[in-house]
Amino acid sequence: MKVRVGFIGCGGIARVHADRLAKFEDVELAAFSDAVPERARAFAETYGGRAYGDYREMIEREKLDAVFICIPPYAHTDQEILCAEHGVHFFVEKPVALTLERAVEVLRAVERAGIITMVGYTRRFLDSLREARRMLLERGGNAILYEAWWIGGVAGGPEHWWRRRELSGGQLVEQSTHLVDLGRWLVGSEVEEVAAYFETRSLRDLPNFNIEAASAVIMRFKSGAVGSVTSTCAAQPAGMDVNFRLIARNLELIGAGNDVIVVSGSERSVLKATVDPFVAEDRHFIDCVKAGAPTEVPYREGVKTLEVTIAAVRSAEEGRVVRLPLATY
Ligand SMILES: NC(=O)c1ccc[n+]([C@@H]2O[C@H](COP(=O)([O-])OP(=O)(O)OC[C@H]3O[C@@H](n4cnc5c(N)ncnc54)[C@H](O)[C@@H]3O)[C@@H](O)[C@H]2O)c1
Repeated sequence: MKVRVGFIGCGGIARVHADRLAKFEDVELAAFSDAVPERARAFAETYGGRAYGDYREMIEREKLDAVFICIPPYAHTDQEILCAEHGVHFFVEKPVALTLERAVEVLRAVERAGIITMVGYTRRFLDSLREARRMLLERGGNAILYEAWWIGGVAGGPEHWWRRRELSGGQLVEQSTHLVDLGRWLVGSEVEEVAAYFETRSLRDLPNFNIEAASAVIMRFKSGAVGSVTSTCAAQPAGMDVNFRLIARNLELIGAGNDVIVVSGSERSVLKATVDPFVAEDRHFIDCVKAGAPTEVPYREGVKTLEVTIAAVRSAEEGRVVRLPLATY
């Protein structure tokens, strides 16, 4: 059986997925839609399938098994709910929404419909991290400290949606969300308290820029573990660095690019990443669709990670510690 796949959004990350899916023998890239129709047409020319300017028409007309939703954070409106109503499974890029209210509304719709969902938290599919997590769990988990940092630059040019809080959510919500999710996944516990501080003055001279230039987020997990995620988009290109470190009782995991260094007592070993995590996550999603099985990162996981980042934004804006959960779902 070939899984008939459609796309909503044909931009940068859509290309990453389409390139990989095109090599899967059990996938048919059947249709592409984008608010800018030429982009959908360009994808259809490369991968085959029909092009649409309107995803509603695509979902009505094509008998799709699954859709890849690859649109910017601000653009999420009815796409996921439409998929739920039509029984179409979906893979959606992070962050799942800009507000928790919307994410919870979608969650209710997809869980009611019973469709298969997956959120693109790519790091969970690096074999190095999966093995590191397995070793951690084998030794009982017991994470004590998780720290991660995203020392990067400003994404895109002056007109890009990334620089506007109302469009992207800001660096933490849009980008460092990967590190918050990694923390939840590795620590194996939910965040129950967040204190965050944003630096918002330094890059205000950049055109069209209104997000944080830097953020420091401190988290306390239900398990008792503590964590931090620090981010900036003000780094010099040669100084960029995205990484993490986790300290557990008798075990330490240190990110090294996509590899992980495992330290146990005086022993140090390196877990090498050998997979393309985008291939691995896309493969997992397609396999789950074929098997009718839930994915490892269903929509609910995306809502939980979003909730932590939204709590952090609230904490920074209101100057207080924010306790989770912010909503029941
Ligand atoms: N997992 C990862 O590592 C990763 C990497 C990059 C981006 N992303 C995420 O993927 C999402 C998209 O990012 P991108 O870099 O591909 O953005 P992009 O701007 O390159 O592409 C977005 C595309 O969506 C289209 N679009 C916008 N609104 C639409 C709508 N209502 N209906 C249909 N199409 C619409 C745009 O015309 C554009 O072609 C973001 O949420 C981003 O955070 C994830």
